[in-house]
Amino acid sequence: MELKILSPGPTKAGSLLPDARVRRRHVLDLDDFSAEEIEYVLNTAARMKEILGRPIPRVAALRGRTLVNCFYEESTRTRVSFELAAKALGADVVNMSAAGSSVVKGESLVDTVLTLQALGADFVVIRHPQSGAPYLVARHIRASVINAGDGWHAHPTQALLDLFTIREHFGRVVGLKVVIVGDILHSRVARSNVWGLTKLGAQVVLCGPPTLLPPTMVSAELWPPLTVEYDLGRALEGAHVVMPLRLQRERQQAGLLPSVREYIRLYQVNAARLSRAHPDAVVMHPGPMNEGIEISSDVAHGSRSLIEKQVTNGVAVRMALLYLLSGGVVEG
Ligand code: CP
Repeated sequence: MELKILSPGPTKAGSLLPDARVRRRHVLDLDDFSAEEIEYVLNTAARMKEILGRPIPRVAALRGRTLVNCFYEESTRTRVSFELAAKALGADVVNMSAAGSSVVKGESLVDTVLTLQALGADFVVIRHPQSGAPYLVARHIRASVINAGDGWHAHPTQALLDLFTIREHFGRVVGLKVVIVGDILHSRVARSNVWGLTKLGAQVVLCGPPTLLPPTMVSAELWPPLTVEYDLGRALEGAHVVMPLRLQRERQQAGLLPSVREYIRLYQVNAARLSRAHPDAVVMHPGPMNEGIEISSDVAHGSRSLIEKQVTNGVAVRMALLYLLSGGVVEG
């Protein structure tokens, strides 16, 4: 594989496609990605996966560049995979958590990222509990901003790795029935996946208790076409991909659920329920899981589970994004 770096473009608008008139600088969500651009990222990730399979899984494409992981919330998968992805491309990596930084002394988000830029950051990967925080950051710095999860809003790199994993397994995304079940109200993963999956032609079904489904998605005026189903058995009929989401148990206190036991009875993805899905159905989960609640342990670790593959694929997908944001092109 030949790796070429062009100069980064000037704005956040644009595209990662090699023939784009304006090159994309930030990845904030998938709502402004075209299907073609998503496919190009996935194709690039496949090339990156080849690199990761080599005896020495390293290239020098981003040598001299610096990535800062700027995390205001906990993370295992996303933070570690961005670090591994950047290192595989030869970049330097710095990890910053809000706890233990000058954020604790009252430094604002904008001052913090301006400081990181002044220290040489070329990429700022940000996770923040406030929806929209990465958009604010992108307005203030020249470095590329990648949204690693903002509030309930978006988690575009998770959606891309989910799309990559689905496409790798089935050879396509178009025409597949994907059921996302659980606490969709509070899920940034669900929102970004709805954009990505529908752009690539999947049939998306959202399933959960009415109190955990956002009214704006149920009425679907602001969202791409999708189906809402409150009964999990019906939702699973013929499903190719079943994606339970973590039940955020703290929401129970907010009166959104009668009890966890009731939730398990109605919405847990387990072997009995999966018998209604397509014979080739697979199970995915963005993690972290609460095994025994939204997903049974035997399903989480069973033969239909792609959950570990999702985590592994996260490195290749994040490599692809870093490479393309740097002006990289993939030929052939
Ligand atoms: N899926 C995901 O965002 O996991 P982490 O919180 O561990 O990064």
